[in-house]
Amino acid sequence: MKNDRDEIPQNTAALNNQIDTFEQLLQRRLSRRQLIKGSLGLAIGSLFAESAFAEEASQLASQKTASLFDTLKFKSIPASMLKDTVEVPQGYTAKVLYPWGEPIKAGVAGFKQDASNTAAEQALQAGMHHDGMHFFPIDNNPNHGLLVMNHEYIDATLLHTDGGFKDNPDTYSKEKVDKEMAAHGVSIIEIQKQGDQWTINKNSKYARRITTATPMQFTGVAGANDLLKTNADPSGMKPVGTNNNCANGFTPWGTYLTCEENFQIIFGGLDDDLEIDDSLRTLHKRYGIRDKSFYGWEKHHKRFSVKNEPNEPNRFGWIIEIDPFDPNSTPKKHTAMGRFRHENCANMIGEKKAGHDDKIAFYSGDDSRFEYIYKFIPSKNYNPNDQQANRDLLESGILYVAKFNDDGSGQWLALIHGEKGLTAENGFANQAEIMIKTRLAAKIVGATPMDRPEWIAVNQQNKRMYCTLTNNSKREETSAVSPRKHNEHGHIISWKEEDNNPHALNFSWDVFLLAGDPSSQQQNLKGNIIGDIFSSPDGLFIDPRGALWIQTDISGSTQNTGEYENFGNNQMLVADPVTKEVRRFLTGPVGAEITGTTMTADMKSLFVNIQHPGDVPGGLKDTVKKTPENPKAASSWPDGEAGGRPRSATIVVSKDDGGLIGT
Ligand code: FEO
Ligand code: CA
Ligand code: CA
Repeated sequence: MKNDRDEIPQNTAALNNQIDTFEQLLQRRLSRRQLIKGSLGLAIGSLFAESAFAEEASQLASQKTASLFDTLKFKSIPASMLKDTVEVPQGYTAKVLYPWGEPIKAGVAGFKQDASNTAAEQALQAGMHHDGMHFFPIDNNPNHGLLVMNHEYIDATLLHTDGGFKDNPDTYSKEKVDKEMAAHGVSIIEIQKQGDQWTINKNSKYARRITTATPMQFTGVAGANDLLKTNADPSGMKPVGTNNNCANGFTPWGTYLTCEENFQIIFGGLDDDLEIDDSLRTLHKRYGIRDKSFYGWEKHHKRFSVKNEPNEPNRFGWIIEIDPFDPNSTPKKHTAMGRFRHENCANMIGEKKAGHDDKIAFYSGDDSRFEYIYKFIPSKNYNPNDQQANRDLLESGILYVAKFNDDGSGQWLALIHGEKGLTAENGFANQAEIMIKTRLAAKIVGATPMDRPEWIAVNQQNKRMYCTLTNNSKREETSAVSPRKHNEHGHIISWKEEDNNPHALNFSWDVFLLAGDPSSQQQNLKGNIIGDIFSSPDGLFIDPRGALWIQTDISGSTQNTGEYENFGNNQMLVADPVTKEVRRFLTGPVGAEITGTTMTADMKSLFVNIQHPGDVPGGLKDTVKKTPENPKAASSWPDGEAGGRPRSATIVVSKDDGGLIGT
């Protein structure tokens, strides 16, 4: 999601806690790191002896491999300055596979370029604003499988012929709200490749849309808690729908994880006159609930006003597990994994040796300023030999939150009732309430407030993890893990669990890279990128070769203007995890964010989501105004002249000679 809205509101934890500054320590570590450029292989051992990257660096030296880019030989492309196209390197082709409005199965009306499709049609078409995504092969075939993806939010101006509530309050009907709800959620489509062409199987038995209206169930310790009960669901066990599904995860047992992020925008009614329990008001405020919703759904569906259903917001903010291979399955909201504005959910399995390979942990960041990074350890061990036995693994366990020390060490702090101040006196009646009020609990135990944690990615080969901290313009107090004041461009950190054990409670961490232009004159804007520059890292993916793919989300209001102008449109790049060299692989159309990607196991097809093309970037805001009458004001991607409006879409990138992506 473009980060204007992601940033509201902010945790004030960092403003309350005095944090010592260790910038000098960090700077020393960084400058030492930069020496690698040009002298690789010679002095790696000594340069990196104390570094968290020492292990990989010595591996690299022993392999006598200078760079990942000895293998990935694509010619990097220039930044895109307001071009309304997807650009990929020479020798590659990007094709649109699944744009907003595409029917998921035969017999459903096609997309109407004037946006006159009904709510019922939208419920069986691709949603808007594609985000996290995963490819599940069928019978291990890289050319056939299920593509599952999130539809994070909507552009109401584009979704309806005459716009949404803000464009045209007089025509804002229940039918419009229902269409908006149907454009959210998750898509499951079956796709196959014949020759060099991917197509959607419209007769698939798996094809399914999950929306804000899909029946779900709670699992875990908070299920049936009073704070989850509503008039419509006195059991507190049957939430309806999922919303603002940002990034994703998957499990080794073949299920998809979708993560609810900015759900606060669909709720209204929290005004000063509302009579509501003080602790519930505090909770809702901390999660960003306001008096007015963003779209106006409460006008036609009472549950979206806390005046009518004060607990309904508590039923969002979860990680949901979906079995894509069972179209009749009920999605599960797992309360044991905690409630916050989840970005994605990455898993790490222990090393292939006794006592390790039966352990798994799940990691998730909370994307708001000064929020935290979490890890969930299931109470049951993972069974690598019987995936069916793992199906209830996410239903119980312990949630931990990260504390980053300035010396490069870190701890996972357990959120357990009765421990570290998580008591009834402090507002947590029981363990269930800790899972519902996770942000409040994490602050009490002393978690480290971060610069908006976005995606986490795990290299399953060497067990190194990465997390994007996209930006935090409000950062005043610095620390080693948040080293820049007014962090406009963001950074990427990396960590390793002690002994590579998913269940470890200690880890070592480092700053992997500071985004921004190294030639900037302002210290807090200066990046240390070697190679192609970018700002606001968000999506992350590690391919089977260990290449770190980075997707960017420069906020719409600042894109293509001021400090952000030279980064161009949002983009996708590849970083060498050891040398840290970065090369630009893909640039997106005007106003779009690049978010969500998955690769087939043969590494010949790369799926990428292009989200919200047609948003008016800051660089065009003085000359361009998008309205329901002029939806193509900023972009007409991907349909161009023939189309009526821009559309988010999944694209598939392949190499023209049939080779591996990146080579
Ligand atoms: Fe939906 Fe944090 O991006
Ligand atoms: Ca973002
Ligand atoms: Ca994101």
